[in-house]
Amino acid sequence: MTLETLIQQMPKAELHLHIEGSLEPELMLALAERNGVALPFANVEEIRRAYDFSDLQSFLDIYYEGAKVLREEQDFYDLTWAYLERAAADRVRHTEIFFDPQTHTERDISFETVVSGITRALNDGERQLNISSRLILCFLRHLSEADAFATLEQALPFGDHITAFGLDSSEVGHPPSKFQRVFERVRAEGFLTVAHAGEEGPPEYIWEALDLLQVQRIDHGVRCLEDPELVARLARERIPLTVCPLSNLKLCVVDRLQDHNLKQLLDAGLCAMVNSDDPAYFGGYVGENYRQTQAALDLSRDDILTLGRNSFEASFLPETEKAAYLGQLDELAAGDRS
Ligand code: ADE
Ligand code: ZN
Repeated sequence: MTLETLIQQMPKAELHLHIEGSLEPELMLALAERNGVALPFANVEEIRRAYDFSDLQSFLDIYYEGAKVLREEQDFYDLTWAYLERAAADRVRHTEIFFDPQTHTERDISFETVVSGITRALNDGERQLNISSRLILCFLRHLSEADAFATLEQALPFGDHITAFGLDSSEVGHPPSKFQRVFERVRAEGFLTVAHAGEEGPPEYIWEALDLLQVQRIDHGVRCLEDPELVARLARERIPLTVCPLSNLKLCVVDRLQDHNLKQLLDAGLCAMVNSDDPAYFGGYVGENYRQTQAALDLSRDDILTLGRNSFEASFLPETEKAAYLGQLDELAAGDRS
């Protein structure tokens, strides 16, 4: 089996995917038309030309602009369903999706509209595409602690649909410590926690996410290699890093994909895996992330299988389901050797 075939056929979990970041230009234009929302772009080519980012903030400015076309429950359904079809084509068997409710509630879209459209599509995805899923609510870290607390209050009636809470948006200047009290409450309510840290921010933000927010996973985390003591802790405690190579390339965290440290993270024994982050903006869904990263870093068959295993190990699936997927990966590895 070629590496290309292995990447295509390997069952995968995707653990770092912003559903608003899967809004393809075609759907953006269609929803703008459907909802009478004015966009600063006339066509798909103009939109794609604008996706030339210099850093995280230059992307976020456009990403929040694009999300304004999402208004109705059906819009959130269509967005999520389109992502699930792409994920199915990449043999994603389980996905844990971020959503940013504050991006919508601040435009007077109700929390219920957002959650209902997303979860209706996730339920259809489970039945029709055989993809299981979890939902992770991300607080926008550029907004205040008070705003996060208010969002948590809005979320609690829909708590059955939400597995974990995370932290995203502009990282530098908004350390995890800003949300320590919010996350205490989140944990007291029985939810799991994750946080973006060490994407553009320093290793200290990863320490804070671990110690102050008590996260189960770090989203990105690629700057951990600057701090050997931190790497030792992440390895010892098997804290997963949800790495997004094409995102890091497009947002200039690395200059070239060949410079990405994913292979070093694996060689350091860390539980890293490959994810797409905002695939409509960064040039590829999870399969494309695997393909380009394998080629750029010359990843081996074992590296690819390790990434696949790590994706399920790091998921919030029950242990029995994790074991079943790890068994499938063992079979794939054994079949590939014979
Ligand atoms: N929101 C969507 N994508 C993000 C990223 N890569 N980092 C921080 N916030 C985000
Ligand atoms: Zn992200």
